[in-house]
Amino acid sequence: MPAVVVSGGTAPDFEAKMTVYVFVCVIISAVGGLIFGYDIGISGGVSAMNDFLKEFFPAVYEKKLHAHENNYCKYDNQFLQLFTSSLYLAALVASFAASAVCSKLGRRPTMQFASIFFLVGVGLTAAAKSLVMLIFGRVFLGFGVGFGNQAVPLFLSEIAPAKLRGGLNICFQLMVTIGILIANVVNYFTSKVHPNGWRYALGGAAVPAVILGLGSLVICETPTSLIERNKLEAGKATLKKIRGVENVEEEFESIVQACEFARQVKDPYRKLMKPASRPPFVIGMLLQLFQQFTGINAIMFYAPALFQTVGFGNDAALLSAVITGTINVLCTFVGIYLVDRTGRRVLLLESAVHMLISQAIIGVILAKDLTISGTLGRAESIVVVVCVLLFVMGFAWSWGPLGWLIPSETFPLETRTAGFACAVSCNMFFTFLIAQAFLSMLCNMRAGIFFFFSGWIIIMGLFAYFFVPETKGVPIDAMRERVWKPHWFWKRYMLPEDDRNDVEKIHD
Ligand code: BGC
Repeated sequence: MPAVVVSGGTAPDFEAKMTVYVFVCVIISAVGGLIFGYDIGISGGVSAMNDFLKEFFPAVYEKKLHAHENNYCKYDNQFLQLFTSSLYLAALVASFAASAVCSKLGRRPTMQFASIFFLVGVGLTAAAKSLVMLIFGRVFLGFGVGFGNQAVPLFLSEIAPAKLRGGLNICFQLMVTIGILIANVVNYFTSKVHPNGWRYALGGAAVPAVILGLGSLVICETPTSLIERNKLEAGKATLKKIRGVENVEEEFESIVQACEFARQVKDPYRKLMKPASRPPFVIGMLLQLFQQFTGINAIMFYAPALFQTVGFGNDAALLSAVITGTINVLCTFVGIYLVDRTGRRVLLLESAVHMLISQAIIGVILAKDLTISGTLGRAESIVVVVCVLLFVMGFAWSWGPLGWLIPSETFPLETRTAGFACAVSCNMFFTFLIAQAFLSMLCNMRAGIFFFFSGWIIIMGLFAYFFVPETKGVPIDAMRERVWKPHWFWKRYMLPEDDRNDVEKIHD
């Protein structure tokens, strides 16, 4: 059923409508993002629950009881951080396996693997009797995240009509934020259930895992993946179904061509090291580093701990995390609305300024007013919370979603799954680093940590200004001609021998 006609004027803006079927596929697949978000949100709350700490981290519990001795260090414990971060380490490794599954078997089976890993992980963490079982569970959840985060953004970018690609792809991030919010609410309520509240909190991830598993039976495989695996007829039929038009010849041909070209490339990882891959590769990797060095996860993982640090009680801290989560969801809609209108660059640049100001104000207030054992005054605490909210707003419509969107749309088909796998694992590596280090950094650097993140925001703003080109509305297989070749800096890597009509010359 047609809703929005998005056919473009000049080739290669292929004819397409926004169909209900695509909409359903988007919602189901994006549930992969919801599980990722739930895992991000749940660990912070669970690691602030006393029942959980008493059972697995008695030393942290003791320290917390004497919290007034040192505000900034009460949660600093490498094993507690490992509970949060082990997931991302596992996801980092898993995304390479996921990339192979994604190209050999397709995007859909990769999501099905993700749902199985999630279910095993949920079972182990929710039933954990020992720290080892708990960490093993997190590792399985990490495999799920590695597989889900590899398949879902690619799937979304490949089924979306070019003109709506940004908005549809950001549905992944939207679900991530909804997952974080649900986790915050679940944390709030389960923290009142003794002694097993944390088990219910961790077990809750089973619901979206089942939805993803069952839902993946309903969604289609992407035309690109079908054609890539020589299923030409099925690929064309799927293309007609998702585009809602009969005339898909042009787009079909362009995918077939991209696939033929991709087949010439025997080793996509070697190809990623070639000059032609430099622009999407460098941008894709750096966006992950920058996304994490905004400091977002210091807030997402540890919001309750952070709010307690500035003097909120247990309950108020969890509640503030719920408010943060709500803002995160609402502002992601702003991103969905704007990304295909104003484009990617405006969002990245505006939010760099806006996030910088809020981080710097938080840093100044904590440096000035939060002593090691005191609490912030009421007014200062409110300013800190407002700045946290402003910061989250900026992130939610820019570096959050665009960190996933841009790498999923800028690699050519021959290096798409490999390049995106590198981006996912890079994201996981830096997420791991922040998860593992933040509480120790807070303990050692105190308020300085917010200036540390501010410094990074300046660097990423400058990078976006000079090196991130606009990709709004450009068909996914036309980046080379339309984006890299005209770019003031990246054009130097576009050598004539890599042009597509010179397929013969490319052997690796
Ligand atoms: C990031 C996560 C982050 C989340 C917050 C995602 O794009 O990859 O690390 O926690 O956004 O909404």
